Amino acid sequence: MTISSVLVVGGTGSIGRAAVAVAHEAGLTPRALVRDVGRAQRMLPTGTDLVVGDLTRAETLTDAVRDVDAIIFTHGSNAGDHEGVDYGAVANTFHALGSRRPRIALMSSIYVTRQGQGYGPVIDWKRRAEWLVRSSGSPYTIVRPGWFDRVGPGDGRLTLEQGDTGDGGVGRDQLATVLVRALLTDTAIGKTFELFAHGGPAPSDWSALFAPLDADAGLDGVHDRTRVPMSAEPVRIQQDVEAVRAAVTHN
Ligand SMILES: NC(=O)c1ccc[n+]([C@@H]2O[C@H](COP(=O)([O-])OP(=O)(O)OC[C@H]3O[C@@H](n4cnc5c(N)ncnc54)[C@H](OP(=O)(O)O)[C@@H]3O)[C@@H](O)[C@H]2O)c1
Repeated sequence: MTISSVLVVGGTGSIGRAAVAVAHEAGLTPRALVRDVGRAQRMLPTGTDLVVGDLTRAETLTDAVRDVDAIIFTHGSNAGDHEGVDYGAVANTFHALGSRRPRIALMSSIYVTRQGQGYGPVIDWKRRAEWLVRSSGSPYTIVRPGWFDRVGPGDGRLTLEQGDTGDGGVGRDQLATVLVRALLTDTAIGKTFELFAHGGPAPSDWSALFAPLDADAGLDGVHDRTRVPMSAEPVRIQQDVEAVRAAVTHN
């Protein structure tokens, strides 16, 4: 499928703004989902398609998802509403999509499978959002970035890991580039990886960068060590996973 139009969820955020810019440079037509048009106009390049929506309310997302070929999720809750925003953004976007399944690039986080290490409920809600994406039937890539901007000037080389055991940093522009390139590179489909930057040159062959990774085969990242059983999850999660599956299988 040819990707032309891409919705950037969290378009006014630090990664979302970079993703809009990278998408423009890659020849795509980005649409930014925003809450405040005036603020977005000051932050984003003139002419960027802006659509207003609230990620916590599915009924406000219909215009945002209309006719898009792909979606990049870069949202994050800065007010602590992890269920409503970090998870709800993905659940509500699939609700708004109905049976349509565009290409997805989801920004998640390292540590989403490492409970009890001081990061609180946010990692559970992000892990559950990953579950929705893997269950959806969309061609997807899930990127778990390391710590933003914990990189030095020569750190152009990207390291992709699987299993959620690593730690390190990555630049915001590097992350935005990977999210956009994942949409445009078939060897990234169906894969989940942690993203770090180290000393060395930036990648030039995106297909070769993603190709060695293993594809997921279920709810979790393919090499994740800690797996929460669905039966231990709130009923809402079980219902949402079933709903995203059913939206395509019953169509
Ligand atoms: N910091 C790190 O090192 C690190 C590492 C890995 C992962 N992460 C993850 O990265 C995320 C933060 O990314 P960031 O720094 O780019 O965040 P950010 O700059 O705060 O951007 C968050 C975006 O989400 C949007 N948003 C929040 N609630 C919304 C709602 N109800 N409806 C519509 N849009 C909404 C914000 O819109 P407004 O502009 O209108 O507020 C903004 O565009 C967090 O989830 C964090 O867990 C961070």
